[in-house]
Amino acid sequence: MSSVVSSERIPNNVDLAGDKKLQRALEAWQPRFIDWWLEMGPEGFQKDNVYLRTAVSVDADGWAHFDYVKMPDYRWGIFLADAVKDRAIGFGDNLGKPVWQTVPGEHRNVLRRLIVTQGDTEPASVEQQRMLGHTCPSLYDLRNLFQVNVEEGRHLWAMVYLLHSYFGRDGREEAEALLERRSGNEDKPRILGAFNEPCRHWLSFFMFTYFTDRDGKYQLLALAESGFDPLSRTTRFMLTEEAHHMFVGETGVGRVVERTIALMKKNANGDARAEGGIDLPTMQKFINLWYSVSLDLFGGEISSNAANYFASGLKARAKEDRYDDHRALEGSMSFDVPKADKSGFDRQEVPLRNAMNEVLRGEYVEDSQRGLDKWNKQLEEAGLDFRFGLPSTRFHRATGIYAGIHFDPEGNLVDDATWEKKKNEWLPNDADDAYVASLMQKPIYEPGKMANWIAAPKHGIKGRPVEFEYVRFDG
Ligand SMILES: [Fe+2]
Ligand SMILES: [Fe+2]
Repeated sequence: MSSVVSSERIPNNVDLAGDKKLQRALEAWQPRFIDWWLEMGPEGFQKDNVYLRTAVSVDADGWAHFDYVKMPDYRWGIFLADAVKDRAIGFGDNLGKPVWQTVPGEHRNVLRRLIVTQGDTEPASVEQQRMLGHTCPSLYDLRNLFQVNVEEGRHLWAMVYLLHSYFGRDGREEAEALLERRSGNEDKPRILGAFNEPCRHWLSFFMFTYFTDRDGKYQLLALAESGFDPLSRTTRFMLTEEAHHMFVGETGVGRVVERTIALMKKNANGDARAEGGIDLPTMQKFINLWYSVSLDLFGGEISSNAANYFASGLKARAKEDRYDDHRALEGSMSFDVPKADKSGFDRQEVPLRNAMNEVLRGEYVEDSQRGLDKWNKQLEEAGLDFRFGLPSTRFHRATGIYAGIHFDPEGNLVDDATWEKKKNEWLPNDADDAYVASLMQKPIYEPGKMANWIAAPKHGIKGRPVEFEYVRFDG
């Protein structure tokens, strides 16, 4: 039943037509969303036909329907995963009680904040990526960029649906504000740091989709456990779309590595830059950057907010059912907290509930390593000694116990002078950004052709060949 999708103005499986007030409110928000999309969505491609996946229902074959569509005509809809019968809260103080179908008054503000914070990241990433189409390395990549963009737009819809349905007037106001903030804008920035970082070129785009969309995956996994059932069902469906974004990142970086290896072999000195490619140490710097800003998205290591979310049943660990103890009242985690004078660390024992951000971050760290292992395998098979590594979780942090203190990528404390001297080796500097961007001056629009700095993908999209005309410039 819930997989039936109406053909109304707003595609949905939530019986929107049965709630006229909500339907009117969302229909009033829709043109404002389109205005935002036209202003802040992919610049210069709004009239072109893009071979996109559209969710038309939530069942196995309906959620991935492929066809050409002009992006402003994309069917952004509201889809919830099917309800789980007799679902009970799986963690915290309310363990075993029935899930909530409406917002419990005592959790209203916290829940709204969680939804707004998640919702804010969705349009932010579209804004960060809006100029990239003009420098695409292939039509295949251009299409993938737009696929990610329209789905982030749909994720915004998912959160706005919750705000409009369950939070009354302040929910509607928050939905407006989600269209008013702008990534990187000094006066009205997006809420979280990584979503205000500029995404200047395609290497950053691939790193972003690998590392920052992966933060999204873990936040969504934690919210999918929520005792607030509509949030759980919404985020469960969002996760199906999120997987493609990380695929774009992982294979994107992998293809750059592949091409760099080929260029190094071609050059007598093994110099990829001399052949117009991206050298491995530069890629490592971008790993350091996007990984560290994404680590910040998990919040502080020691967090009473995280403890409250868990206790109240609002946000759990990822895949909570893998754990034995769902109350987490026992146990602790220990941290090396930097001393006030930065001369070393004090070991601190933190109750498990207060360390929930770190538990989620730990899962993310492990998951992030998997892509690096694959890229390193490519290097190994090519007979190269270079290996990529994730920097320490202390490195280049702006939130939590390591914020404002300098560490090297191995996690050792370094003084300000050392940091100033070495930071250009550890993080991309303006010259690195300028160099990478200089390789991407012109877009490649010829079907099947790739820019010099990246290898072709192994496969096309949905069984189509790599040479398929994924974007048609009919506009
Ligand atoms: Fe998203
Ligand atoms: Fe995403």
